[in-house]
Amino acid sequence: MTTAAPRSTAAATPPAGAVGTAHTRVEGVEKVTGAARYAGEIPFAGLAHGWLAVSTVARGRIRSIDTDAVLAMPGVLAVLHHGNAPRLETDYIGMLGTRPDPTCTVFQHDRVPSMGWPVALVVAETPEQAREAAESLVVDYEQQPHDIDFHSGRPDAVGLDGHMPAVTGKGDLEAELAASAAVVDAEYTTPEEHHSMMEPHAVTALWDGGRLEVFDSNQGATWVVGELAKMFSLEPSAVRVRSEHVGGGFGSKGVRAHQVAAVMAATVLRRPVRVVMTRRQMFSLAGYRSPTAQRVRLGADADGRLRALEHRSLSLTSTVHDFVEPSAGHSRVMYDADAHHTANQVVRLDLPTPTFMRAPGEAPGSFAMECALDELAVKCGLDPIELRLRNEPERGPVSGLPFSSRNLAACFREGARRFGWAGRDPRPGVRRDGRWLLGTGTAAASFGAGAGPSTAVLTAEADGTFTVRIAAADIGTGARTALTLIAADALGVTTDRVRVRIGDSDFGPAMIAGGSMGTRSWAWAVNTAAAELRERLALGADIPPEGITVRSDTTAAVGALARKERHSYGAQFAEVAVDLTTGEVRVRRMLGIFAAGRIVNPLTARNQLVGGMVWGISMALHEEAVRDRATGGHYGADLAGYHVATNADVQDIEADWIEDHDPDDPVGIKGVGEIGIVGAAAAVANAVWHATGARHRDLPIRPDRVLRAAAEKAPHA
Ligand code: MOS
Repeated sequence: MTTAAPRSTAAATPPAGAVGTAHTRVEGVEKVTGAARYAGEIPFAGLAHGWLAVSTVARGRIRSIDTDAVLAMPGVLAVLHHGNAPRLETDYIGMLGTRPDPTCTVFQHDRVPSMGWPVALVVAETPEQAREAAESLVVDYEQQPHDIDFHSGRPDAVGLDGHMPAVTGKGDLEAELAASAAVVDAEYTTPEEHHSMMEPHAVTALWDGGRLEVFDSNQGATWVVGELAKMFSLEPSAVRVRSEHVGGGFGSKGVRAHQVAAVMAATVLRRPVRVVMTRRQMFSLAGYRSPTAQRVRLGADADGRLRALEHRSLSLTSTVHDFVEPSAGHSRVMYDADAHHTANQVVRLDLPTPTFMRAPGEAPGSFAMECALDELAVKCGLDPIELRLRNEPERGPVSGLPFSSRNLAACFREGARRFGWAGRDPRPGVRRDGRWLLGTGTAAASFGAGAGPSTAVLTAEADGTFTVRIAAADIGTGARTALTLIAADALGVTTDRVRVRIGDSDFGPAMIAGGSMGTRSWAWAVNTAAAELRERLALGADIPPEGITVRSDTTAAVGALARKERHSYGAQFAEVAVDLTTGEVRVRRMLGIFAAGRIVNPLTARNQLVGGMVWGISMALHEEAVRDRATGGHYGADLAGYHVATNADVQDIEADWIEDHDPDDPVGIKGVGEIGIVGAAAAVANAVWHATGARHRDLPIRPDRVLRAAAEKAPHA
């Protein structure tokens, strides 16, 4: 037996805090050398490969599936479809508070509600055989007319009260608009956008001694266990999900069709079965961001004070599952007005169900509202930053709750100083650099700072090291590294004495990597467990060979946190160059200054913020999934046809932050996963206006749109 002191208790001389210092990823070497295994590349003996076959019609019914022909093909083991697949439990409320999306509870009926709907899983000895067979599978459909026509003013739009109310309102909007000195009334649209994470969805499922083992790429092992256990009527303890490394998620990696199909196949075949989505399949099976059509009406006094604010957003969902892109949510927390009305509506179309995508609601919502404010600033003859500062609310405009901390003004001040905003000529279209017109733009950002209940397990090992176990997911965010720093500080030891193990549901329930809440939620559980462990060690307990282990559960503590408006904030700045002869827009410079609570690891936090801003450039200028009305399917459902910003699209880009302190939050972290994209597209669009004098209210700002706007502005040219 070893004694606790001094190595395994709090260090005699406490190390300088690890939180706040740059730390490279603890698994970085494994990743760059290929030693890190992702869900689709872990070897298993006897592995079979499943390939999803998806519908080629946008609406209808499956008449027949010719399984005999493919069962005779080399290596084919099974074809699962609605006629022979295991029945699932589908009538339950999952972790996110909704029934499962029928797109994911596969093969339960013969109806086809959208193009690319999963109709069968072909399983074979090799992926090549499975693919060949799946692509040869003849499915006969009774085709029905489909409707994928998304546009504002649809009479069948409905409000759905889900995670937030569909409608909020106070005051007499028309009266306040009529009494306003300056009014903006404009419609903004954003297109269908896709997550496009690098690693495709991938899973391997197998039964091991009565236990379902799932090796998966997801944003939360607890979440996936919960859903699979419910669907397959299993005890949660009979399901284990592991996701050691995840190559990006952005909201798309929960439970989807492939995991469910893989579990079915593993059950039927009694073999490990792997299913990986192709990039093309991800366009219909992995969720996406709904297009939006948003109408914004603003009315202000001559000094810029808002009298009227209306933000109405329309998004789409499928006919089988409700999902709302809550774009008006941005206005509910950012700006107040005497009359303040917001609405999120949806229309149900014959399309796949959209889902959460980085800053759901806030990303498209901030595009509309932050552009509208820029238009209002021009009408009021005010600097757009000054307009925002004059409209800083005292309390949550809709909730009436106090803000825990709101440092938006400080972000603008620091950003303006570093970007060189002072002395900006407000007139559009007057700066040139050769063939380029130059302009600058700004926008505000905010994103909710929440926490979810989590459990953590901490062990003081006999050799003086510490092991943290928590079912966190590192989807590329650097969560594993952040938790290493947090645990080191909480234990009062250096990071080299801390080992963090994540991505395993057997570590106990934990928050998902979502809603920018992961690191804060997990840190809370780690801190709580560490405090108890330090107490135990301070009592001088001997550490037995198996170590001393404590568990924490933050359910009560998270639930007891006072209700307040808790958000991160940011100020986005962009400088663009526009060539009116080609329609090309280049973002020359971009700066984001954020107030995002305590920054755990500057290296990975900057990475998150810059990543979000790059996505904002991408959203502003490039991304657009285009559908063919006749078929209901995509043109170019791949990363050639769907253009995501790459290195050549990004020039000088920088993210930084200011001190931000939430006085009554025990953790102090607000989360940086999503706020980087919020306001970023608006800052670019506002800069394009400043460069050219043309307002672009439809994303993306494609060259043809730039050229058309220029032609409309100067018909004589
Ligand atoms: Mo995020 S859209 O909550 O992964």
